[in-house]
Amino acid sequence: MSTSNTSALNDFLQQCQQRVDERLGTALDAEIASTQLLEAMRYACLGGGKRIRPVLAYGSALAVGGELAAADNAAAAIELIHSYSLVHDDLPAMDDDDLRRGKPTVHKAFDEATAILVGDALQSLAFQIISTDRDTLCANNRLAMVQLLSQKAGATGMVGGQSLDFEAVGEKLNIQQLEQMHSLKTGALIRCAVLLGGMSCESASDSQMTALAAYADNIGLAFQVQDDILDVIGDTSQLGKPQGSDSDKNKPTYVSLLGLDEAKALANSLSDKAIAALQEFPGSADPLRELAAFVVSRFH
Ligand code: IPE
Ligand code: IPE
Ligand code: MG
Ligand code: MG
Ligand code: MG
Repeated sequence: MSTSNTSALNDFLQQCQQRVDERLGTALDAEIASTQLLEAMRYACLGGGKRIRPVLAYGSALAVGGELAAADNAAAAIELIHSYSLVHDDLPAMDDDDLRRGKPTVHKAFDEATAILVGDALQSLAFQIISTDRDTLCANNRLAMVQLLSQKAGATGMVGGQSLDFEAVGEKLNIQQLEQMHSLKTGALIRCAVLLGGMSCESASDSQMTALAAYADNIGLAFQVQDDILDVIGDTSQLGKPQGSDSDKNKPTYVSLLGLDEAKALANSLSDKAIAALQEFPGSADPLRELAAFVVSRFH
């Protein structure tokens, strides 16, 4: 990527991160009876994380000719679901990790019961935000977005993938099984982020949405392949989560199955396919193109 593209991407990342943080801050400023729960929800969501899913939602909105503001609620909703998934992913019954986004995990900073409840509450809040967005979206679009988010977050998406991940501990998966697990546990929410961004622009065409879906499927898998790679070659302080967690827990990953070099080659080829899926889009899809390259070259 050239220097000017890198700086354009950095500006876009920053702009999107600010927008979604503002929306999340408002959503997490509610009056609720349990101040400990609210504090833990804010701890889990604010002040950390790359916000890649919101950035993808914003990038898709721009790609189909929409406005960033129309995607604010979609961006916040997908980040709430993702943050909840991380809180539960780190629990002792799952990956049993102590560090997340450079801070003690929620069950360490608070306790396990609070971490479970934080996940539950963040998930509900996501659906609240996306279903009550009367200012920018018509009722039909809101309903379609709720349907998509529920499919991609639940047993047919992220939660289903997490279950396969849990069942695979200590097993040797074949490449199709690994792809299915990764496409669900990580790919599903990334696909959802991209499509929600497109849906936030009511004039998005079917062919634009089909192209976005192809982009999303490739980038979603590429994202988790790079996550597996970083678990091996990354650095705990830069990652903000423990390097080596997968091998410690004997998890099948792209690196354990293919080796580092082949895993890297696969991540790059998925990123190229994602970019190729955008060929019909004009320059408005450049942030998505640059994000595809970023996802497989990132160090955190
Ligand atoms: C980590 O996601 C979990 C995966 C699905 C691989 P991110 O790498 O996007 O985590 P944050 O949001 O930046 O902390
Ligand atoms: C997590 O995958 C996918 C989720 C649904 C949270 P990982 O377990 O590999 O994510 P990290 O490496 O802990 O962030
Ligand atoms: Mg996990
Ligand atoms: Mg984990
Ligand atoms: Mg990982």
